[in-house]
Amino acid sequence: MIDFQSPEYNETVELRRKILRKPLGIDFSEDQLAKEGSDIHLGLYLHNVLVACLILTPEPEGKIKMRQVAVDAEFQGKGIGKKMIAFAEQWSSDNNYTYMHCNARKTAVPFYLQSKYIIVGDTFLEVNIPHLYMYKKLS
Ligand SMILES: CC(C)(COP(=O)(O)OP(=O)(O)OC[C@H]1O[C@@H](n2cnc3c(N)ncnc32)[C@H](O)[C@@H]1OP(=O)(O)O)[C@@H](O)C(=O)NCCC(=O)NCCS
Repeated sequence: MIDFQSPEYNETVELRRKILRKPLGIDFSEDQLAKEGSDIHLGLYLHNVLVACLILTPEPEGKIKMRQVAVDAEFQGKGIGKKMIAFAEQWSSDNNYTYMHCNARKTAVPFYLQSKYIIVGDTFLEVNIPHLYMYKKLS
């Protein structure tokens, strides 16, 4: 768990910028980052180096949105993303959230399917790339 605007939070912004924004030729606006104060920030460290992060945004009625899921390039495909979302689901369930959802990049849909997320609806564009809405009921 990482505090908003802490040095560790700044590391997550850098990782997200590198993995999720720069490849698309875009960056975060100050306004977008300012709104992250009420989010839950998770970081996964290996030997004191941040290798993965994600954000949880609490919503009404037991819902929680998972977003900004990023694993550093050289650590992808090693089970780190799966472990991180399992932790996020456990934390959410422990804190009485019952419904996790996300807007999944189409390229990442197989990853979420492996963790038993369900697709609803058709492809839509977000940050100019195709996404699908996915959810999972938490026990
Ligand atoms: C998508 C991402 C978060 C996945 O994390 P990861 O650590 O690479 O994934 P894992 O190694 O934990 O994979 C978990 C499972 O999903 C599968 N998987 C992961 N990415 C996949 C892909 N692109 N296609 C097919 N299967 C995939 C793995 O094979 C693995 O299956 P298994 O449980 O049967 O072994 C990571 O690759 C990433 O940061 N990608 C770039 C940014 C991104 O797209 N983020 C998601 C935005 S919605």
